[in-house]
Amino acid sequence: MYDSHISSRKDDHVRLAQQYYEQNALNPRTHAEIDAMQFIPNALPEVSRADVSRETSFAGLALERPYFINAMTGGTPRANEINRRLARVAQETHSPMALGSMSIAVKNPDTRAAYAQLASDFPDVRFLANLGAEHTLESARFVVDLVGAKALQIHLNAAQEIVMPEGEKDFRGWTEHIRTVTEGLGADGVPVIVKEVGFGMSAETVAQLVDAGVHTVDVAGRGGTNFVQIENARNAEQDFSYLEDWGLSTLRSLLEAMHVREEREELRAHEERAEGLGGTHLDIIASGGVRGPLDIVKYVALGADAVGLSAAFLQAVTASEDADEAVAGAVALVRAWDEHVTNLLTILGVRSLPQLRARAPYVLPESVHAYVRQRFA
Ligand code: FNR
Repeated sequence: MYDSHISSRKDDHVRLAQQYYEQNALNPRTHAEIDAMQFIPNALPEVSRADVSRETSFAGLALERPYFINAMTGGTPRANEINRRLARVAQETHSPMALGSMSIAVKNPDTRAAYAQLASDFPDVRFLANLGAEHTLESARFVVDLVGAKALQIHLNAAQEIVMPEGEKDFRGWTEHIRTVTEGLGADGVPVIVKEVGFGMSAETVAQLVDAGVHTVDVAGRGGTNFVQIENARNAEQDFSYLEDWGLSTLRSLLEAMHVREEREELRAHEERAEGLGGTHLDIIASGGVRGPLDIVKYVALGADAVGLSAAFLQAVTASEDADEAVAGAVALVRAWDEHVTNLLTILGVRSLPQLRARAPYVLPESVHAYVRQRFA
């Protein structure tokens, strides 16, 4: 009974997300907070496009480009078909690919074969397994092994669970679970990434995660796929419309995470000077409502190590009934975006993403400065 609930929910999420994109966000002309961030153009770039590198990394994974396929789905026939299309795109573009929550595989043995098949059909794809924060180390190891994952994403989705009638309502113990799973998988050499699902993260949350041993966070902010709207559409009898603007934008969430990174780096430098202690680096992924190359380059300039996209890839791989056509379209999109990212770096006068972070000047709107002052001054 519970399993069939999960299955129909997974298919509902994909269907309603697609409807949602048609009506709202992800339309390139939709206004987003990041639009008000403006690069200062560089009329003397002194860079040849041929010398520009797009390489980056997070959680120990090397990336050819600063973006990757973020978590969505799996475990039903429709979801498995979407995952196979995404895996083809991941294979052709050498992109890591996050799977949607695999708790369905923990709970229902019938769903496992499709995951194992996906991993064996795409041996070169670096899959990221995905589970909620309530799961045990044993379950985490199980889903990682099922797909030979290179990392585990642990999703934090309290706002989504609250609006799901069948959702979890007891959120105690997550931090301790995250600590146990991060330590345990760390001993196996599998990094953990903790992510939100579209409501963003505060500096307090990021600091708590770092204290629990986490080295990579994905802020997954507001501005793209909105699970309050999706759950409202699934359940006509409830009204959570007052929560539709819940969450922190991806831009603000990234600034929050950056604040923690800077604080910790200062502390680390201080400790290293004082005691010769080695510290820890925090990798930050920006995601939530990312629409294309300009958004990607902006989030990296602000400090993100990489950028995750779910909605954009879901739309691309379902743009045609024909799998070959849809996959070819998605691969062409990645190739085009790669060129655009390189173009942007070139005209900004930087040869690499570290240079972009260190040197590209930009301005943020006064509303964002006021926000930062209130939060951190
Ligand atoms: C998601 N997302 C998600 N995240 C996660 O960690 N586990 C999951 O199972 C799912 N499921 C899921 C299903 C569907 C259909 C979508 C579109 C998304 C959330 C996703 O990874 C991401 O955080 C948000 O969608 C915000 O990014 P975009 O979609 O605005 O790029």
